[in-house]
Amino acid sequence: MEDPTARFNEWLALAKQTPTIKEPTAMTLATATLDGTPAARIVLLKESNENGFVFYGNMESRKFTELKANPRAALCFHWMPLERQVRIEGTVVPVSDAEADAYYNSRPRERQLGAWASQQSRPLANREELEARNAEFEKKFEGQAVPRPPHWSGWRLTPLSIEFWINSDVRLHEREIYRRANATSPWQHGLMYP
Ligand SMILES: Cc1cc2nc3c(=O)[nH]c(=O)nc-3n(C[C@H](O)[C@H](O)[C@H](O)COP(=O)(O)O)c2cc1C
Repeated sequence: MEDPTARFNEWLALAKQTPTIKEPTAMTLATATLDGTPAARIVLLKESNENGFVFYGNMESRKFTELKANPRAALCFHWMPLERQVRIEGTVVPVSDAEADAYYNSRPRERQLGAWASQQSRPLANREELEARNAEFEKKFEGQAVPRPPHWSGWRLTPLSIEFWINSDVRLHEREIYRRANATSPWQHGLMYP
């Protein structure tokens, strides 16, 4: 059975080679509260391999608070110029501190400072307040490396289903789905009505 993550990576590589796709790693991340209220937003995919799909942000944000309470998520990519969509569903766990450090340390300094300045998903009185917080942390870490804030990290999604959708002609699109019961069981593959 073909590994659907390898297939996903082939599609992602194609998206990265397509000049009109500005953010090939941008994906919709859907979460839900325990009482079933859904929410969706765009985040960037930072890793995809047999270990899963990794994304980063503020652990105190709405999305990650929801993942803490209900560690299941759905991802959706749409590469419009390629006329392709990929939907991924599964369970999530936080990445290790070592992994989060490695990725955080690779980010530009302004982004590292931004992770300190932003109290993501909390009300902000005005733009000046955010700029003042940014300046405060710029000063605090002047002349030294910016450490990863304790509230900034990532999650790894272990896929239990991956669905590939491609526009094949005007009416009859192709839709293929890979499913497995858990992370160690074999993938089952099938077609779906588009
Ligand atoms: C192209 C794009 C990329 C983004 N990438 C991320 C990201 O990697 N991590 C992140 O936390 N937010 C990212 N955001 C912002 C989120 O969409 C969202 O506004 C933020 O995470 C707060 O969401 P929440 O309140 O549901 O937690 C991105 C937004 C856009 C439009």
